[in-house]
Amino acid sequence: MDERGLPAEEVRKLLSQAQSKDLSYSGGRILGSMCTAPHELGREVFTQFLETNLGDAGLFPGTKELETESVAMIAGLLGLAGTSGFLTTGGTEANILALWAARNKTRKNKIVAPETVHFSVDKACNLLGLELVKTAVDSGKCADLGELESRIDSDTCAIVGVGGTTEYGTVDDIVGLSEIALEKEVYLHVDAAFGGFVLPFLQELGYPVQFKIPDKGVDSITLDPHKMGLVPIPCGCILFTNPETPGFIETEAPYLTLKRQHTVVGTRSGAAAAAAYAVFKHLGREGYREVVKQCMQNTIKLYRGVVKLGLAVRKPTINVVAVDCGPEVYDALGKMGWRLSQTREGEMRIIVMPHVSEKVVKDFLGDLESVAGELRV
Ligand SMILES: Cc1ncc(COP(=O)(O)O)c(C=O)c1O
Repeated sequence: MDERGLPAEEVRKLLSQAQSKDLSYSGGRILGSMCTAPHELGREVFTQFLETNLGDAGLFPGTKELETESVAMIAGLLGLAGTSGFLTTGGTEANILALWAARNKTRKNKIVAPETVHFSVDKACNLLGLELVKTAVDSGKCADLGELESRIDSDTCAIVGVGGTTEYGTVDDIVGLSEIALEKEVYLHVDAAFGGFVLPFLQELGYPVQFKIPDKGVDSITLDPHKMGLVPIPCGCILFTNPETPGFIETEAPYLTLKRQHTVVGTRSGAAAAAAYAVFKHLGREGYREVVKQCMQNTIKLYRGVVKLGLAVRKPTINVVAVDCGPEVYDALGKMGWRLSQTREGEMRIIVMPHVSEKVVKDFLGDLESVAGELRV
């Protein structure tokens, strides 16, 4: 840090220089991200609530109410009225909280999860000293329940299912997993970080996707408002179906206005909670359904376009498309400015977020056609 500060105008110039190196979602080239531009109202509200701290919520009871109401609205999306939880910094923190609670509740040390699970579960297990057993998936990239069940033993504290896998957007059979969890008496965590704000709306729109949180057998669920929820980063959510579960991750906070904390982070922004409340109230189910409808229509256009080009592509379950086009095509598209991502198996992975408009899909398909043609894939 310099001894003397700079005038704000000069600092702004420095910031603009740095920002000019960044991409923006509105540029239409980011196809490999599960985040998008936040809703305008969310941006505005985020600034308004910038000084609030939910780590010391007794000072900000109004903002705490907004968190509680946001969590209730998220639970309502899954038909889980009355389920409590917390807003977090994202899906990673929510998954850590879930497995932390499972470990403390059961005093066991093994997690069994399909190999398609997000790497935040690896991170959580590493942090919590848990062994992670990864199990095979079926040809549709969903958890093979027989295989998963066979790996549960007396050391297993939790199993994990995914509602919208990061790489393929596929959805595990949560009802089947809940039956296994009940029979084997293990904790079940459902990671719907991405799919939580997609699957309920796809179902309402009549898409044939199975995703249901049953009344019994599921202990916790992760959903991320900062992905398809259009809320500014950082905003994740953990829901606990049993009101006693948060007690297993409770920490005394002696000098603060509220004496107990249940999140990994201490000081935590109330701005995201207020923004989440605002965007949920403003869009309502109807607004989100429209966002998901657009994304899914563009996903289908992309899928059909890729099929027409004769490339191998998985039929998408949600707005995630995986194309097996080889590294040359992937690299050539990258050189043309497309910001894509790859699955662990090397497929090109495209997330059709709200910023991936019909025009972006058309432009991308045009470039894919020329690249694939030149390379004769
Ligand atoms: C299924 C799933 N879980 C967890 C996460 C981690 O979320 P975050 O990056 O918000 O911590 C992601 C991120 O893409 C995800 O797709």
